[in-house]
Amino acid sequence: MEIVRTIEALQEAKQRQQGSIGFVPTMGALHEGHLSLIRQARAENEVVIVSIFVNPTQFLEGEDLDAYPRREAADAKICDVAGVDVLFMPTIDQMYESDELCIGAPAKRGYTLEGAKRPGHFDGMLQIVMKLLNLTGATRAYFGKKDAQQLALIQQMVRTYFLPVEIVPCPIVRDADGLALSSRNTYLDADERQRALCLSRSLKAATDLIASGTRDVTTIRTRMLEVLALADRVEYVAIVDRAFLPIETVEIGGTILLVAAWIGRPRLIDNVWL
Ligand code: PAF
Repeated sequence: MEIVRTIEALQEAKQRQQGSIGFVPTMGALHEGHLSLIRQARAENEVVIVSIFVNPTQFLEGEDLDAYPRREAADAKICDVAGVDVLFMPTIDQMYESDELCIGAPAKRGYTLEGAKRPGHFDGMLQIVMKLLNLTGATRAYFGKKDAQQLALIQQMVRTYFLPVEIVPCPIVRDADGLALSSRNTYLDADERQRALCLSRSLKAATDLIASGTRDVTTIRTRMLEVLALADRVEYVAIVDRAFLPIETVEIGGTILLVAAWIGRPRLIDNVWL
């Protein structure tokens, strides 16, 4: 595996490779969730590029940019063992200039749910993903469904700007007890780790209700909120269609259930696609 830190070195490394490029963008602190993306990229492409870059423009003032877990050496080892060809770990200077041209998230679906709670987050996320897709020349890029809105906005950006890349949505990876994997889970102490299960359990309670025939969104939200009583603060419980617009009745095949809640220090998110 080649480790490259500059754009020039990335372009040189790419010239030494041939064939379709599977790209997995990450912010590091790699876990099984990232590994599942890398494995899928490895299975479907001749070349696999992973990026590790804690992107400052997608963190809001007061968020955990400085504290975000950074484990460069361990992450590089994980990528190497997983068969990654090129690991791109640029500096901020490589990726940004001052007074940049920016990409804006769309007014409706970019400013609801995560976008409403973290205004500006999606602008920064789209900006870096656009740069990384262009730099890597990815044939396919792999994103987890845990960041459901992020995934939908990236798909929209690819459509809007006619980017020549296939976006591959990948399933959420969970611990055996149901907790969705996240780099921010490392912030949880033992009690918080246990309480964090209320996110996935609220989704399970909702899907149980739906399986027994309930379709009314108010009834399902009320049940989810009961289970989420263990959270320190619930930011939202949302039941939306594939465009992230609120609905009144669940439709199998067209609904996403989403939750965001604070458990101790981290703010965690989870969702289920029906
Ligand atoms: O999901 C993430 O880790 C980040 O938002 C991404 C896609 C790597 C962009 O910084």
